[in-house]
Order: sequence, then structure tokens, then C-alpha cells
Amino acid sequence: MRVVVTGGAGFIASHLCEALLRRGDGVVALDNLATSTGENLLFLQQWPQFQFRRHDVRQPIAVEGATDYVLHFASPASPEFFQRRPIETLETGALGTTNALELARTTGASFLVASTSEVYGDPQEHPQREEYHGNVDPIGPRSSYDEAKRFAEALTMAYRREYGTDTHIVRIFNTYGPRMTPQDGRVISNFVTQALRGGPLTVYGDGSQTRSFCYVGDMVAGVLKAMAASFPEPINLGNPEEWRIIDVAKLVVELTGSRSPIVKGELPQGDPKVRRPDISRARTLLGWEPQVPLREGLARTIAYFRSVTAPST
Ligand SMILES: NC(=O)c1ccc[n+]([C@@H]2O[C@H](COP(=O)([O-])OP(=O)(O)OC[C@H]3O[C@@H](n4cnc5c(N)ncnc54)[C@H](O)[C@@H]3O)[C@@H](O)[C@H]2O)c1
Repeated sequence: MRVVVTGGAGFIASHLCEALLRRGDGVVALDNLATSTGENLLFLQQWPQFQFRRHDVRQPIAVEGATDYVLHFASPASPEFFQRRPIETLETGALGTTNALELARTTGASFLVASTSEVYGDPQEHPQREEYHGNVDPIGPRSSYDEAKRFAEALTMAYRREYGTDTHIVRIFNTYGPRMTPQDGRVISNFVTQALRGGPLTVYGDGSQTRSFCYVGDMVAGVLKAMAASFPEPINLGNPEEWRIIDVAKLVVELTGSRSPIVKGELPQGDPKVRRPDISRARTLLGWEPQVPLREGLARTIAYFRSVTAPST
């Protein structure tokens, strides 16, 4: 297959590009490097069937030669970025998804969009099943991202209904692992960076809010399976093991061997209190479930962060 991967320089999509290349597919990665450095590309360039084009998906996309599949991962993804650049985030969800879907429609390619657990907002149903329609504040500080992704899902279904495009939607829950950007402001990157520096780990609120963390290798395996499935509706991909944030902070301190204290910060407005995927659909349809426990995945992530950040001691 020849696969076009938008956001291909980013964290998850660069792992996805690697998996596709390893199985012999051709990959064209498109990225404007808005939230990634391009460093992930250096590794991918060892494959002769890998091509990179710097491109903003808010502009129409044309790719020479055959396209069999479009994987649409381009989007700001960390709260720090999407709250600072809400218009760019909404435009990437709306115009970027339109352009990626147009590429699939005009080339007859299949299409998969990386949606998010954020479509469930601050959920009133727990754990979250795909049938749950969510509790999203359309004007809150997180709305640029949440509504961009909800629109992206709606547009994806519209292309299927109106044009018969072969579409797929995965709802990704918190994912972590090597190649995350240390400064991206997400909880695992923050904790690991803070612990390696020996500085305090900031837990927002009392730390009793929960998240479920999926190791990136598991996530990529799930996406590859979802690509091959003929199922049009969203599929949750994430690790159903639920952790209190305070316990994640303690685990990071233990695994880094750091003496960092844990301090409390103010809980950001609209921060979801719980988050845990119901992955029954992925289990049944894809025969998929995560294999890597948090302790093991964190140890690999810490080793990666150690290799790319210089500790101050
Ligand atoms: N990591 C997670 O926990 C998580 C959870 C849910 C959903 N997702 C989704 O998965 C996808 C990848 O996330 P990630 O964590 O790897 O983030 P990332 O920031 O590492 O990757 C996103 C990539 O998209 C690129 N990009 C952003 N706007 C663009 C534009 N207009 N044109 C071209 N490229 C653009 C960025 O430069 C970056 O390389 C995103 O769509 C994100 O919303 C991620």
C-alpha cells in the first residue's frame, strides 16, 4: 500500500509511519511542524519508500502517484498549544479534515481519522462507551480542540454517507511513550521532565482525577487493526487501566529515582474528572487490547527522556 499520513512528524503518527514502513508499505508524511520538531523524521528517512513533505493541511492536498490510504493525524494535540492557538486548532480540524477527506475521495483511497476521548468532554458516563454522546462545553477553554474533533468525526461520516468514501474513526485516549515532545505540556511529559530535573512535580487539584494511559506501541497496533476493519463507526482505543493522577506522579518519582516533591497546582477550568475507555468494541471487532502495563511503558519513556534531555544534576 501507499499511505499518506498527515501529522506524520508527530509523536503517534511517526510510530505509525515506522510500523507501515517495516511491513513494506510506502509512506508519504505531510506535516507543517507546528507542534513537532521534525526530529522523528530523521529515523524514518532510512527507508527509501519514505517521503516527507512540509505541508499545512489547512491548504488543499495533492499527492503525486497512487494513494491507497489516508491516515489523518495532523492536529494540535496538547492543551497548552490548543488553548494558545484556538483558531488554528479549529481550522486544522475543519479545513484540514476536509482536505484530507478530499484527497481520499478523489483518489479512491480509504480514510482513517485520529479522533479523541475529548469528544466525551467531562463525561457523565463512566467508563466511556462509543455510544455515549459526551458532555462538551462548546465555548469553554478546551472547546477549540473538542469541537474540532467532533466536527472532524461528523465530516468523516458525511463523506461516507454522501460520497461512499471508505472511512474509519478511532477515538484515542491518553497515549504516551518515546518520541513525545518533553515540553508538550501533557501530564506524562510534565511529570517525567520535572522528575528528571529534580524539580517539584505539579499535580493539579487534589490529584484524585483519573486518566488511563496507553503505551504508544499498543496504540499503533490498534490503529493498524482499525485500518483493516470494515467498521464505519468510532472505535475507542486506549488502556482501560485507570490511574489517579497523584499515583502516576508517585510512580514517576519512584521509577526515576528522583527526590522531587509533589506539589499541588490549581485545577484548570474544564479539566475532565475521570477518563477511562470501554474497549469492548475494539476487543470484539479487532481482537485488540493493550499489552504494556504503565510501569513498563513509563520505564521505557523515562529512558527515552533521559536520552534527549540533559538533567541538571
Ligand atoms: N497523544 C494522545 O494522547 C492523543 C490522544 C487523543 C488523540 N490524539 C490525536 O492523535 C493525533 C496525533 O497526536 P500526537 O499526540 O502524536 O501529537 P503531536 O503534536 O506529536 O502530532 C501532531 C502533528 O500534527 C502536526 N500538525 C498540526 N497542525 C498541522 C497542520 N495544520 N498541518 C500539518 N500538520 C499539522 C504537528 O506539527 C504534529 O507533528 C492528533 O490528531 C491528536 O489529536 C492524541
